[in-house]
Amino acid sequence: MALILGAVTVAGALPILVYLWPAPPKGQKKGPVNITLDKAIDQLNDGEAVKFNAPTNPNTAFIMADGGGDNAAGDLAFGGFAVKTGGKTNVFAINCSHLGCSVALNEAAKTFDCPCHGSRFHLDGTVLQGPAPVPLSHLTWKQGDSPNVIQVDGIVLGF
Ligand code: FES
Repeated sequence: MALILGAVTVAGALPILVYLWPAPPKGQKKGPVNITLDKAIDQLNDGEAVKFNAPTNPNTAFIMADGGGDNAAGDLAFGGFAVKTGGKTNVFAINCSHLGCSVALNEAAKTFDCPCHGSRFHLDGTVLQGPAPVPLSHLTWKQGDSPNVIQVDGIVLGF
């Protein structure tokens, strides 16, 4: 009797456990994504930024390390900027913190400008002009195997 009760309990609980701990979607794999920059990151001059995009074959995205506004840690980004300012190098997701449009580098003004609603960011990612409520999100990165390669935390979406 106990054996039958046990079997019924396991059989009943299995669908609930599968629902609580679903398997990751097939073909998606988290890990460092090698990105080749137009310039070696340690050769960036102060006030200089380089744009990069997530690879598309296979489709890949970067994972935001932090967030605020429309962005949150764990959200995906399909592009970013490596920028040196005040002697410090940062790598930012391209997504505006207002509603997620892609910001563009304004080389003359040394700002990141959003084309959607006019937000502007300093090169250190902080807000220069709203409506964006908070700074740009960081991407986690480290130096790759060659001077102009960085490894950015990301996920292969596989489609
Ligand atoms: S999405 Fe950038 S200002 Fe609105």
